[in-house]
Amino acid sequence: MGSKIAIIGTGYVGLTTGACLSHLGHRVVCADVVPEKVESLSRGEVPILEAGLDELVAEGIEEGRLSFVLGAEHAVGDAEFVFLCLPTPQGADGAADLSFIKAAAREIGPHLQADAVVINKSTVPVGSAGEVAKKLERPDVHVVSNPEFLREGTAVADFLHPDRVVIGADDPEVGKRVAELYSALPGEVLVTDPASAETIKYASNAFLATKISFVNAMAAVCEEVGADVVDVVRGMGLDQRIGDKFLVPGPGWGGSCFPKDSHALVRIAENHGYQFGLLRSVIATNEEQFGRVANKIARFTGGAVEGKRIAVWGLTFKAHTDDLRDSPAINIIRRLLEVGATVRAYDPAVEPGTTDARLAGIEIVADPYAAVDGADVLAVLTEWPEFRDVDFGRVAGALGERNVVDARNLLDGAVLKAQGFAYDGIGRS
Ligand code: UDX
Repeated sequence: MGSKIAIIGTGYVGLTTGACLSHLGHRVVCADVVPEKVESLSRGEVPILEAGLDELVAEGIEEGRLSFVLGAEHAVGDAEFVFLCLPTPQGADGAADLSFIKAAAREIGPHLQADAVVINKSTVPVGSAGEVAKKLERPDVHVVSNPEFLREGTAVADFLHPDRVVIGADDPEVGKRVAELYSALPGEVLVTDPASAETIKYASNAFLATKISFVNAMAAVCEEVGADVVDVVRGMGLDQRIGDKFLVPGPGWGGSCFPKDSHALVRIAENHGYQFGLLRSVIATNEEQFGRVANKIARFTGGAVEGKRIAVWGLTFKAHTDDLRDSPAINIIRRLLEVGATVRAYDPAVEPGTTDARLAGIEIVADPYAAVDGADVLAVLTEWPEFRDVDFGRVAGALGERNVVDARNLLDGAVLKAQGFAYDGIGRS
């Protein structure tokens, strides 16, 4: 019989963790603070775009192993394990803001059963396990770090087929109890101390961001020397020591994790006396990439975009998600709007008429052709596969000027050039 588990926070990490743990046979109660969210989740309505999550939530509810309650204190009473899956947003100074985590710890402390294990699933700064223990004020309760490695859009697959599960526990016996929860899963379980577990998470995200910034910088070099970055990356990736993952050049990296975690790691290092220059330049290279893409667009409009009409395909920070947080596409569009361009955008995951503040000043349309109508340049900023299937004969007729900036190397430049388009990708001449 599975363990009794409480999940605090039902965002893409909490909901995925709860649904997958109930799928593994555990009895899971998820808590949130938004009544409407608890009600709709209890009806099996999943508000986020995560492949396979709807089915697992429906299965868990159907089999009586997954339920939703309002308020953390109502979820933890008889739980052996309590996962904290709360936001740890980037604070003004770049450090992670732990206020949600600390508030939850204070709230659940008095309600936990003896010997319960509180598990930090959220990405938290090194040393946070101790912070949570202090707020719980329960010496008979354990605190463990168990960072998530879930990518948005593939969170369920990443949870059920992990490369590794990382557990940071002061008491190895408690670490083993948490490891047991994952015993049905493939991949290695690494039990270490809390500080190492918390550091593994930041180091992993920072290194993935480093890989992407490196390949974006190499793309800039390729453009100057006349090399094709796609072949350069293929040649690099065949070296098993380098690998071919996370080496796809693009508009820069974004999302709810890389920007937050890379800044947080710089701050964590600095707070402990180390100036992490390498990571600072990874962040700077990323900012530079946004400017490089904006300049590519401006080059097609005679060097300035003022008064020009730019069509954009893609607003989300990557394809297969509806998340706009720290989206490179929006960062690039902001730069264009600031110097007087008009932007009309289409994204399959963004409804026209949306009132999201991050989209202020951008005209959102319902299809890719409406976006290009009369535009001076088309910029592809997110790699939605459907953009490959658009009728470019129709696009050619609709565009004012047949200019395409493909910031994801998604399209076939040679075919478009043969159709009379001026085409500029990333790292390709
Ligand atoms: C990331 C980590 O991958 C995940 O392990 C962690 O738990 C959370 O943060 P996520 O933020 O969902 O996941 O997005 P990811 O798929 O990693 O992409 C991050 C950014 O890098 C996106 O903007 C994406 O477009 C960009 N990217 C990714 C590239 O530009 N090139 C690549 O090769 C891969």
